[in-house]
Amino acid sequence: SYYAILMAGGVGSRFWPISTEGFPKQFHDMLGTGDTLIQKTFQRLTKLIPKENIFILTNARYSDLVFEQLPEITKRQVVLEPAMRNTAPCILYASLKIQKENPDALMLVAPSDHWIEDETLFTKNVQQAFDFCKKNNALMTLGITPTFPNTGYGYIEYDRLETEESQNQEVKEVKQFREKPDYETAKAFISKGNFLWNAGIFIWSANDVIEAFQKKQPKLYKLFESGISVYNTDKETDFIQSHYEQAENISVDYAIMETSDNVYVIAAEFDWNDLGTWGSLYDKLDKDISNNAVVNARTLTEDASGNMIRTKKDKIVVIDGLQDYIIVDKDEVLLIFPKSKEQDIKRVLQKVKGAF
Ligand code: GDD
Ligand code: MG
Repeated sequence: SYYAILMAGGVGSRFWPISTEGFPKQFHDMLGTGDTLIQKTFQRLTKLIPKENIFILTNARYSDLVFEQLPEITKRQVVLEPAMRNTAPCILYASLKIQKENPDALMLVAPSDHWIEDETLFTKNVQQAFDFCKKNNALMTLGITPTFPNTGYGYIEYDRLETEESQNQEVKEVKQFREKPDYETAKAFISKGNFLWNAGIFIWSANDVIEAFQKKQPKLYKLFESGISVYNTDKETDFIQSHYEQAENISVDYAIMETSDNVYVIAAEFDWNDLGTWGSLYDKLDKDISNNAVVNARTLTEDASGNMIRTKKDKIVVIDGLQDYIIVDKDEVLLIFPKSKEQDIKRVLQKVKGAF
């Protein structure tokens, strides 16, 4: 049967000041729809996966936020990490738990902060991936057609197939998985044509992913394997408290995807946006007649366009003579920052922390 793990332990620092370490972006209504990103993602997954089989992986400090925002889940479904170790350790840990509960489990791994509009096509592609994993030892990815040499993504090179018949197959063999290449490499990949971006969504059986960890990350595997007997018992928390911190800090992409030879890809038919920056949010939101994207505010603008504006509900904002800026108002912080420099918000935040 189908399971999902929803990764919700990141900090989202480029969305400061809305996203903070104490209250990261996945717990905010970034889109102004009335739902937070984690609520949206959870709902999307329930189209295919039984509610009670969706596990939330997050840092222990966000436990209250998870139960508050997803009141329908139980304690069993929340996997709390005592330390931030990136995605590989938490995925292995959750996979071992799920395998113990159901040795035949097929799993979807999903980030908690993506924008996917077409849930029907999303469900269709995930179903295709599940079907493939039932019959093959496969680490499945979903691929997005790249539009520019973004160095923040993983790149997937698929086999160019010869026959017309094989070209029509939705599942393609992966020749190379390359996490976050430098700019020149990314450019070369894109010009070759047979590369896709890794959407960060994975599909596999619990058995196959655990086997991949066993082969590629034997140290990490041994660390968690020594706790197998305590998973889903009262002793589990003690084990995790005393062992989790020893795990290497590494993402699943570097840990198993880059070096495994049973990686496959399905080109995603759904629209996809990794909501990583204010600019990516701006791109996706509806605009007013002057091309400003506005969340919560009531605006009066003259000669102002291309701005991303977010305030408290119904705050009145008057702007004259400003193009392509991010304007975010939150309690004691007001951010006014050029959209073209949005990647620097992460760095500026460090400065702010040092200054006040
Ligand atoms: N539970 C948990 N614990 N979740 C975590 C942790 C952690 O320690 N660290 C990160 N996450 C969550 C984030 O909240 C996010 O939902 C997801 O895991 C992915 O982490 P990111 O930090 O956003 O990864 P990335 O964007 O740099 O790269 C990944 O996603 C890209 C697409 O968005 C990779 O898979 C790339 O290959 C991919 O292209
Ligand atoms: Mg990301």
